[in-house]
Amino acid sequence: MKGLILAAGRGTRLRPLTHTRPKPVIRVAGRPIIHYAVENLKEAGVAEIGVVVSPETEKDIREALLGYPVRYILQEEPQGLAHAVAVAGEFLRGSPFVLYLGDNLFQRGIRPYLEAFREGVSAVLALVRVENPRQFGVAVLEGERIVRLLEKPKDPPSDLAVAGVYVFTPEVLEVIQDLKPSARGEYEITDAIQGLIDRGRRVVGVEVEGWWKDTGRPQDLLDANRLLLEELAPRVEGEVEESALTGRVVVEKGARVVRSTVIGPAFIGEGAVVEEAYVGPFTSVGPGARVVRSEVEYSILEDHALLENVGLRLQESLLGVGAEVKSRNGLPRAHRLILGDLSQVELA
Ligand code: DAU
Repeated sequence: MKGLILAAGRGTRLRPLTHTRPKPVIRVAGRPIIHYAVENLKEAGVAEIGVVVSPETEKDIREALLGYPVRYILQEEPQGLAHAVAVAGEFLRGSPFVLYLGDNLFQRGIRPYLEAFREGVSAVLALVRVENPRQFGVAVLEGERIVRLLEKPKDPPSDLAVAGVYVFTPEVLEVIQDLKPSARGEYEITDAIQGLIDRGRRVVGVEVEGWWKDTGRPQDLLDANRLLLEELAPRVEGEVEESALTGRVVVEKGARVVRSTVIGPAFIGEGAVVEEAYVGPFTSVGPGARVVRSEVEYSILEDHALLENVGLRLQESLLGVGAEVKSRNGLPRAHRLILGDLSQVELA
């Protein structure tokens, strides 16, 4: 069994965060999203892992996965999930495989889907009941068997969305060869699976246990961060001076918490500085980020972000790599903003 993680997309819905970096490298609870995919595959016994990247995402994905023995496969253009699988044909070399969307998070890992992949089954799909099935692939089940599959239907026949983990026999590659692009111009994995169903193959759906997140929107990232922080084991490896840490708090090595209050669950990354500050529940402060004389909760600060002298508490906020929020004293009492394309600021 091989693993194939897809990380070649453009992440348009998460702009501006994904203007410069792909979605799977955004950190939740201190780790790039794609780490959880690799760990879940390993935990399920899948040792040989390929990662599909694009010319735009390759550098960042390689950096995020430094030290992981994975194979990189280049997809020149994001022409769809089925196209990404076809590009990986040589890596898969006739082996059954787990397809794992690199921006998806599964609380309880992926073992149940591999267990359902037995003799006579051509594909297993993870399924989740959702309120907004129009945004996903949608399955129609008869018992455990999927009898119909539609990609982002206007009129969903069920509320069972396709979550981003699939297990396949190599036969799916044959179906992909004959695939035509969909209305949105992509080679859809959903159409390939419908092709398997049309051939009379057994395609099985397994409902996801625990939570699942497709990290498509900012609120999904904050939610995923909160859920993962709730499972964190407290650990203090950095320096803590004249500060109060309450609840589940991680302070990584090289981080400094000085004259501050941190209420968990919270994560303070390597080399980060929290000084005369308040870091509240569900907050991740990325490596090298700084929170100085400011208050923040239920937020994600990415690597080297800066929050300094900000009078009002920041909440439900996402600061990208190197983003800065500062307040300056003195006149004029005005906001000064330097914002990139599609940035969002809400002023109280
Ligand atoms: O998240 C679950 C949903 O994922 C399923 O319900 C849908 O059936 C499935 O089509 C997919 O829909 P999305 O619209 O969310 O897929 P997205 O374009 O966001 O791509 C998912 C991941 O795959 C993302 O990490 C980028 C990567 N990707 C995407 C494309 C189109 C590639 O590596 N290559 C590609 O060509």
